[in-house]
Amino acid sequence: MQRSEIEDKADFGHIRYAQLWEDADVLTQGLGACAGGTLVSICAAGDNALAMLVLDPAKVVVVDLSLAQIACLKLRIGAFRHLTHAEFLELMGARPSTQRRELLNRALADLDAETRNLWESLAEDVDQHGAGGVGKFERYFRIFRTRLLPFVHSQKTIDAIFVPRPKSERQTFLDTRFNSWRWRLLLNIFFSRLVMGRMGRDQAFFDHVEGSPAQHVARRIRHAAVDCDPSENPYLHWIMHGTHGAALPMTWRAEHFEVIKSRLDRLDIRPGSLEAFVSTGEKADGFNLSDIFEYMSPDVFEQVYGTILNAAAPGARLVYWNMMAPRRVPQAFANRVTRLRAVEDRLKAIDKAFFYSDFVVEQVNA
Ligand SMILES: C[S@@+](CC[C@H](N)C(=O)[O-])C[C@H]1O[C@@H](n2cnc3c(N)ncnc32)[C@H](O)[C@@H]1O
Repeated sequence: MQRSEIEDKADFGHIRYAQLWEDADVLTQGLGACAGGTLVSICAAGDNALAMLVLDPAKVVVVDLSLAQIACLKLRIGAFRHLTHAEFLELMGARPSTQRRELLNRALADLDAETRNLWESLAEDVDQHGAGGVGKFERYFRIFRTRLLPFVHSQKTIDAIFVPRPKSERQTFLDTRFNSWRWRLLLNIFFSRLVMGRMGRDQAFFDHVEGSPAQHVARRIRHAAVDCDPSENPYLHWIMHGTHGAALPMTWRAEHFEVIKSRLDRLDIRPGSLEAFVSTGEKADGFNLSDIFEYMSPDVFEQVYGTILNAAAPGARLVYWNMMAPRRVPQAFANRVTRLRAVEDRLKAIDKAFFYSDFVVEQVNA
């Protein structure tokens, strides 16, 4: 099995992302028509691999270097099988609950011992924050919300973010009520490389990232708060309130619950690297590549991109995000894919997971 570059540097023993901070509405539209095909997805917390089932593929191959992340998908599979939709939302933390331990037990009922052990060791955290709140990344947001945000904004101001209003009023709200000097100071401290590395992301992930994270976040907050409507943004709501409001991520919405549940057996979970999948000789019709390229040096990225192309059927789409480091088709492969600029532009404008600087849809030429 091929090793991945980041495997040598980062510790993958814990849950980093207990929910997916990439917008599945945008992902599934970016992948286009995939009915009957084979899709490949990076697992992370599993939500987006589940969302891809809505596209009606024959199968979704799910890969991840981290067993803890695969355990997030397995928990969701158990929850879809054994809980109602309302109970699923309670377990995940989207809704308040006094019965999460019991829901967790039911969701874990027929899962493997390793997955059960991991989640049982996290039962207290699940009870308090929901299964979608127990990752390192969510803990980072929680510290931001509970320990720092109260020094900057009153609860009244935070609640006011989610009141629906027209775009011109959103701009005024951001400029006159939200973007205070205290807020700017908080962004600069909290999103310093040192603090982000310590609390949210592994230091190794910054090796290839350019620019100041705080400047980047300030730009993206404008996108989420003014260009898009915050009242429709589940990600922003979780960051500011530690739970969801009326809006939910695609996979967690009632309208998809039964469809996803009926297609769970189309998931083909393969713990290990994407590089291992592409060396099997199988072909796929679409790839959800998360933002993994950003974790690779440009040389490794180019090499991995080439191997993905060799595992892609004609017409397959590669969908991925960049947070801070620029990654797009390497020059060496530019004549083998077409950038779907109109699709990207349309979807970037509505991407609710607002922290990414770029969203890429590249299609393998026939
Ligand atoms: C790249 S991270 C990004 C997470 C993300 N932004 C989110 O919102 O959850 C997603 C997952 O990719 C996995 N990963 C990173 N590089 C990989 C590779 N080469 N092959 C398979 N999985 C990989 C990590 O273990 C992690 O669980």
